[in-house]
Amino acid sequence: MKLGIMLSGTGSTYSAIDQAIQDGQIKAEIAHVISSKPNAKGLVYAKKQGHNNTVIDPKDPDHHDLINELWKKEQPDLIVMAGYMHLWNLAPEFECKVINIHPSLIPAFSGKGMYGMNVHRAAIEKGVKFSGCTVHLVDSKYDHGCILDQRCVPVESTDTAATLAAKIGPIEKSLLIQVIASWGSFQHEK
Ligand code: GRF
Repeated sequence: MKLGIMLSGTGSTYSAIDQAIQDGQIKAEIAHVISSKPNAKGLVYAKKQGHNNTVIDPKDPDHHDLINELWKKEQPDLIVMAGYMHLWNLAPEFECKVINIHPSLIPAFSGKGMYGMNVHRAAIEKGVKFSGCTVHLVDSKYDHGCILDQRCVPVESTDTAATLAAKIGPIEKSLLIQVIASWGSFQHEK
């Protein structure tokens, strides 16, 4: 399986995916990494690992087309948004081929502006008893596509946004790795 990766930040999700490939948990190769930022830490990892990589600035008015063109050329079987923080108007051939991990139980605490610690702060402020994470298909709205899988995490009265983030972070990675590893069966369920 050929994987495409899109990121904007530390690349901790991307490096966890790459590690799972090296461990044999995911049978795939990383075809290309797109970063929205030239100084993203994830890009440093891509260069170190020798993965093809390209920076596409979301402020560039042509950025949607540039991303579509790059993926049309690479033909990945699956594109993973691994901490990619922007909307991409995906070309029709990529519908049902792009997934994202979100640190809440969608539809709770999702949509524009709901990313990173904002999500966990909102969950704590609301006083929810459970939060978690969601892997979903990507469409042209934030956190909107079909839900593929979720994991639930209990929220204790002593939890803060930071402790909740620390609880959910590793679970996000293992859920995403599970979905990627079983991508063939997700395709059959459609
Ligand atoms: C994750 O917490 C995920 O929920 C969100 O981006 C974060 C990963 O960023 N989509 P990174 O991989 O540490 O850069």
